[in-house]
Amino acid sequence: MTLPVGVQKSPFAVELEAGDHYWCACGLSRKQPFCDGSHAGTDITPVKFTLAEKETKYLCGCKATNNAPFCDGTHSKL
Ligand code: FES
Ligand code: FES
Repeated sequence: MTLPVGVQKSPFAVELEAGDHYWCACGLSRKQPFCDGSHAGTDITPVKFTLAEKETKYLCGCKATNNAPFCDGTHSKL
């Protein structure tokens, strides 16, 4: 299997609480778009990001973004 695995060719729009969050970079998590530990055994690790306040974010679902964990539009070229 080639990692990362794209989950969908569009971002996940998620309303997030303030604090730390861990975006799944490998595509294997069953709790997309967040890490659930399924990357164990791969050389991929989740991307941690921190929000100062409650906010809606667009997290990359294709896993090909160049601005992880956020969608940068790369999915439209896949
Ligand atoms: Fe994908 Fe952790 S499950 S980075
Ligand atoms: Fe990955 Fe938009 S969903 S760049």
